[in-house]
Amino acid sequence: MPYIREIITDGHPTLRKVAKKVNLEELHDPLFQQLIDDMFETMYHAPGIGLAAPQVNISKRLFVVDLDDDVPGHGPLVVVNPKFSVTEGEIDSIEGCLSVPGMIGDLKRFERVVCTGFDRNGKKVELEGTGLFGRCLQHEMDHLDGVLYIDKARNIRPAVTEEEKAALAEVEAEGAALERNASEAVEPSAVPAIA
Ligand code: NI
Repeated sequence: MPYIREIITDGHPTLRKVAKKVNLEELHDPLFQQLIDDMFETMYHAPGIGLAAPQVNISKRLFVVDLDDDVPGHGPLVVVNPKFSVTEGEIDSIEGCLSVPGMIGDLKRFERVVCTGFDRNGKKVELEGTGLFGRCLQHEMDHLDGVLYIDKARNIRPAVTEEEKAALAEVEAEGAALERNASEAVEPSAVPAIA
C-alpha cells in the first residue's frame, strides 16, 4: 500500500544536497519500489504534477511526473538518474514548488530538453520535453542538485490573484504554469510582463 510521505520545505538541509546517483540494483529492492509508489501518492495528494525524491527527504536521483493532461508520454512516469542530453532555447516560466508553499516566481527555462534516464524497472528512457512538461522536467532536475526555483526566480511573491491561486491549486505548482492563464490574458496585471 502506498502512503503519503511528508513533503519537506525550504530550510530543510536535504533540499540543498546534491542527491546521490541510484545504483540500479536498488530497483530490485521492494523498499525502493515502495518509495516510488509513495512518491506518486504524495504528489497526487498534494496535489502536484512533479515530485523529486529529496522533497520527501530521500537524497537520491529520481523524480516522478504526471501532468494529468491526457497527453501520452506526460505521465505517470518516474525517471531514475536523469540527465539532459539536449537543452535549447529559452522561455519564460512562472513556477511554484510544493517545498515553497503558496509562492510563485518568474524565471527562465530552456524551451526544449531531452531527458534520458531509467524507468522503475531499469529500462532506459528518453523523454522530450517542451512547454509545461519540459519546464517540469527542469524543475525536478534542479531538486536533485539542491536547487530550488527561488534561487533563480525574480519577483517571488505569494499567489494572490484568483488566476495565480487557480494555477497554484491546479499544479501546486511544480514546474508550473500560469501559461494558460497568461495566454487567456485574464487581466494583464495578473501575470507580470516579462521583459
Ligand atoms: Ni519543487
